[in-house]
Amino acid sequence: MITIQNLTKRYGSFTAVDDITFTAPPGSVTGFLGPNGAGKSTTMRIAVGLTRPTSGSVHVLGANYRDLPNPAARVGVLLDASAQHSGRTGREVLTLGAMTLGTPQNRVDQVLEQVGLTAREANSRVGTYSLGMRQRLGVGHALLGNPEVLILDEPANGLDPQGIHWMRSLLRGFADAGGTVLLSSHLLHEVQMIADRIVMIGQGRIVADGAIDQLLSDGTDLETLFLTSTMSTSREGIAA
Ligand SMILES: Nc1ncnc2c1ncn2[C@@H]1O[C@H](COP(=O)(O)OP(=O)(O)OP(=O)(O)O)[C@@H](O)[C@H]1O
Ligand SMILES: [Mg+2]
Repeated sequence: MITIQNLTKRYGSFTAVDDITFTAPPGSVTGFLGPNGAGKSTTMRIAVGLTRPTSGSVHVLGANYRDLPNPAARVGVLLDASAQHSGRTGREVLTLGAMTLGTPQNRVDQVLEQVGLTAREANSRVGTYSLGMRQRLGVGHALLGNPEVLILDEPANGLDPQGIHWMRSLLRGFADAGGTVLLSSHLLHEVQMIADRIVMIGQGRIVADGAIDQLLSDGTDLETLFLTSTMSTSREGIAA
């Protein structure tokens, strides 16, 4: 469970996140959707203790992330898939991750299999990876410690349709086993494929929140909802 309560983040006079409240419950995949600059990454960085909120709180599994014992083993995080060390192989990245977490090394092979990186790919340097392969590796890294919660910033960027399908089944399985998933995206179609709940944000404010079926029950499609909900708040007046 992730509980966000009256969260605000200001940079000087600019309000990046404006008094948002929502929860990502266990057993579901919550898509955090909004145009570029809406405040998604800022919210996720606050959730994992990398950015300080101006006011309000984010509780992950009932506490501030930083107050959880061994948080990385309970909360899997992918913030920037392109930030991985490019000189290491995928296997090395995961091996180091497992060592840091105190996770048995056989978990590395399990994770490689789970994210669909072949032995040849795992032994190649991350610098040679496509964006989709980096996303798979990043999700693998997040899964290493068998976490209860996944916080994934734009994990679907760069994935081909097969990759999206793979991510949907992976996250669906994770949620069905009782896990909590919060994933951000500015890509409507991908989110609709992967998530069962949606929290929509525009210019730092929540503009829609609920189960996808419920939000679209009157026949509205997600794109129309997104455009109409974020139009008035979008900086350029157009959604990403
Ligand atoms: N360290 C910072 N200093 C000043 N402004 C910041 C800082 N970090 C983020 N912002 C601003 O906060 C706003 C929200 O940024 P954020 O990265 O959270 O958006 P986002 O929803 O993740 O967008 P995207 O879809 O492009 O990833 C943007 O206007 C951004 O410029
Ligand atoms: Mg972002």
